[in-house]
Amino acid sequence: MARPVVLVTRKLPPAVEARATRDYDARLNPDDRIYTADALLAAAAGADAMLICTSEKITADLVGRLPASIKVISTFSVGYEHIDIAACRARDIVAANTPGAMTEATANIAMLLMLGAARRGYEAQQMVRRGEWKGWTSTMLLGVDFSGKRLGIFGMGRIGQAVAQRARGFGLTIHYHNRRRLPAGEEQGAIFHDNLDSLLAVSDILSINAPSSPETRHILNAAAIARLPDGAIVVNTARGDMVEDAALIAALTCGKLRAAGLDVFAGEPNLDPAYLALPNAYLLPHLGSATIETRDRMGFMALDNIDAVLAGRPAPHPL
Ligand code: DGY
Repeated sequence: MARPVVLVTRKLPPAVEARATRDYDARLNPDDRIYTADALLAAAAGADAMLICTSEKITADLVGRLPASIKVISTFSVGYEHIDIAACRARDIVAANTPGAMTEATANIAMLLMLGAARRGYEAQQMVRRGEWKGWTSTMLLGVDFSGKRLGIFGMGRIGQAVAQRARGFGLTIHYHNRRRLPAGEEQGAIFHDNLDSLLAVSDILSINAPSSPETRHILNAAAIARLPDGAIVVNTARGDMVEDAALIAALTCGKLRAAGLDVFAGEPNLDPAYLALPNAYLLPHLGSATIETRDRMGFMALDNIDAVLAGRPAPHPL
């Protein structure tokens, strides 16, 4: 009997591809080329499921043109701003994601960004690697301590809470803004702000951990940055489009902000080149979930969604 066909749109970790090919007639992408919409539609012909990444824009138009055979679109990500969920529902296509798979890994990268920004990690690396380090001095590359400072977390979901847990160990006081206040057991002493402006005013360090949506696009704009304390640090492990780049770059240039740690960028990998010239920008290439264990877990969860739907069961992680 013919096995179900699963289109895997990007090259995935070996263990994930091995499971996909074990269980399905898997159409892999060994060269990891990014599909255009037309190429994606052609590749999806006759497929039962699609295992996609955030690079595939599943717009209403594309959903409307997908073959009738597609029953489930499972994304190898927690973020799902690239999928038009309503359009999928209208066509009875299940859309699903991998929530929780990358919580720890992403929270760890948020701490790396915080430390890299606060302790001048980029300048320090440059100095050592360029042979410009002339020896210890009492005033060389001074950063700032965390202890006694306030960390504002915008978006207190799984990842925001994991960032809070780590940051407490660094002596930071946790403040947060979220659509809903967490129950006391989950808050663990974090101070709730029912509006973003109030959070910004107390954020010596601001960590962006909310999902990208039309409402959060450019939420960190010039007006929002003006509300941050002078010398604040901004960290973003969520999505680049939540930051207005020109405003952040201006604030880092004039000293309104001390530093930024950024893992995500609007239009990545083509980030605004002005970031590259800023010594106080600690930049990473979207590494939030980039650990061996996490990427395997994401792939397995994405396949769990496909397994369930193709077996006639509800997806474990539907959108
Ligand atoms: C996600 O899961 O949304 C990540 O950004 C992909 O690494």
